[in-house]
Amino acid sequence: MNMKYFIKKKFKKSFILNKIYKIQPPLIQKSINKNLGIYQINNVMKIAKILNINAYNLATIIAKNINLIGISKIIISQPGFINISFAKNWLEKNIQKKIFTKRLNIEFKKKKTVVIDYSSPNIAKEMHVGHLRSTILGDATARLMKFLGYNIIRVNHIGDWGIQFGILIAYLSHIPINKNTSLKKINNLYIKAKKKYNENKNFKKKAKQCTIKLQNGDIKYISIWKKIVKITIKKNQKIYKKLQVNLKKKHIMGESSYNYMIPKIIKDLIKKKIAIRKNGKIIVFLKKFKNKNGQNMGVVIQKKNGSFLYTTIDIACIKYRYKKLKAKRIIYYVDSRQKRHLQQVWEISKKAGYIPKNMILEHHNFGMMLKENNKPFKTRSGNIIKLTSLIKKSIINAKKIILKKKPTISKKKLQYLGEKIGIGAIKYSDLSKNREKNYIFNWKNILSFNGNTALYIQYSYTRIISIFKKIKKKEYLKKKYISLKNKTELNISIKLLQFEEILLETQKKGSLHILCNYLYDLSVIFSLFYEKYSILFASIKKKITRLKLILIIKKTLKIGLYILGISTLKQM
Ligand code: ARG
Repeated sequence: MNMKYFIKKKFKKSFILNKIYKIQPPLIQKSINKNLGIYQINNVMKIAKILNINAYNLATIIAKNINLIGISKIIISQPGFINISFAKNWLEKNIQKKIFTKRLNIEFKKKKTVVIDYSSPNIAKEMHVGHLRSTILGDATARLMKFLGYNIIRVNHIGDWGIQFGILIAYLSHIPINKNTSLKKINNLYIKAKKKYNENKNFKKKAKQCTIKLQNGDIKYISIWKKIVKITIKKNQKIYKKLQVNLKKKHIMGESSYNYMIPKIIKDLIKKKIAIRKNGKIIVFLKKFKNKNGQNMGVVIQKKNGSFLYTTIDIACIKYRYKKLKAKRIIYYVDSRQKRHLQQVWEISKKAGYIPKNMILEHHNFGMMLKENNKPFKTRSGNIIKLTSLIKKSIINAKKIILKKKPTISKKKLQYLGEKIGIGAIKYSDLSKNREKNYIFNWKNILSFNGNTALYIQYSYTRIISIFKKIKKKEYLKKKYISLKNKTELNISIKLLQFEEILLETQKKGSLHILCNYLYDLSVIFSLFYEKYSILFASIKKKITRLKLILIIKKTLKIGLYILGISTLKQM
């Protein structure tokens, strides 16, 4: 049940009848003043201005033609807002409908194919906190869209073909790597090798030659490369599993997988006169992008030495996603610094006809996770903190909190709860922030029983479970009866019926904090309700209604947390 849509349909009819729909369809928002109504139509003033008539009168006429089923009152407020409230019996009917459906009566329509490109770390390095946002924002979006009916294709576009391999191979010529070498060791070697690369000209040259040799298929180099890729993937998969992120090996489509397409693409771009040869390089000049001197920007797609670039690979990749994967829409969870890169890839691919001009391409960029001093998340020695360290620390902290509450808890249970709560805390603290902004990561705030945290929501969920444990007669819930008696119960019902529109809005804006805030609000409302009204000791009729309400709250929290990739707990 989508309440907003329910209202919209009614007003659409009236707008058409009054011949104003073509000027503007009804614009619906939640009412600012709750005493006037739940929703409000707030573009009547604009339409009246265009028609040069009185807004209040127009609003009155529109309201006259509304089908009143489900509505308790319509209040017109100055200068021309139309406020709508819902009828009690309509709310009861729709709440009742939610009870026995798995999806809480939320619509599921098969929708188009969407590729979601997320996490995508570079190989031969350990994942660090900088990879967290892309990984969990992308994963939650994939879960949400799948829930809403999209055909989701998850892609982990790992960086497995870059210069880092040339650098490592050049450095490794006498250091053997076998399948038991740890990623930590490779990472440390890489740091040393990179330093040498930056400082030593000859080494730089050697590293570049190694990269070309690798890219041309040198057997020995390919074998080292394969080992490094395997070791990195193994470690990364462990992290995804710990983080409860749904990225499996089958979702990996790394940069190297598009190699075979590239020579043909370069030829094709030259043939189509999109790319030209200049000073040994192959370049695409784009009118849309200007360089510092105001000239058309040149995007190199093949270097003098024959190697191709990150952009070239992404052009092949997008072609593949459209032609082979049949994507109608692609969402990239990539750092904001790559905005221009993606725009260039899209522009070249459209020009070349590899993807349709109107294809939906979205860059869901995100801000940085910062330390309390507003500085990047680094260790004292200046290295970015590894994702494994962050996860470990969160689990340790979560365990400390649990031990304080339950000193006698078994070791096994402590570990289980510590993981679920520790991981939930990191994920929620990130997902609940506005995606586009930097945010400050604070250990104290993320693991608190009070405030907008995963723990608070998880705890509300377990509280509801424990109420149900105390109920002996489960048949209460089977009764069709439901009667909303007080304002709190009415408000809870409205909130619960708004879940579907929250999911749709979260999806549309790609902003998971909308869903987080909703789940938090719902947990707060539950808490207040439980404090004020007795559930277990109420009269039978009241008890039935209240149990139904908290059952739906429980289900809503469960689905919501599932979408965020956070576990619910039966016991705490
Ligand atoms: N590997 C890249 C990086 O670490 C991110 C890849 C994003 N996806 C893409 N299709 N370019 O910055």
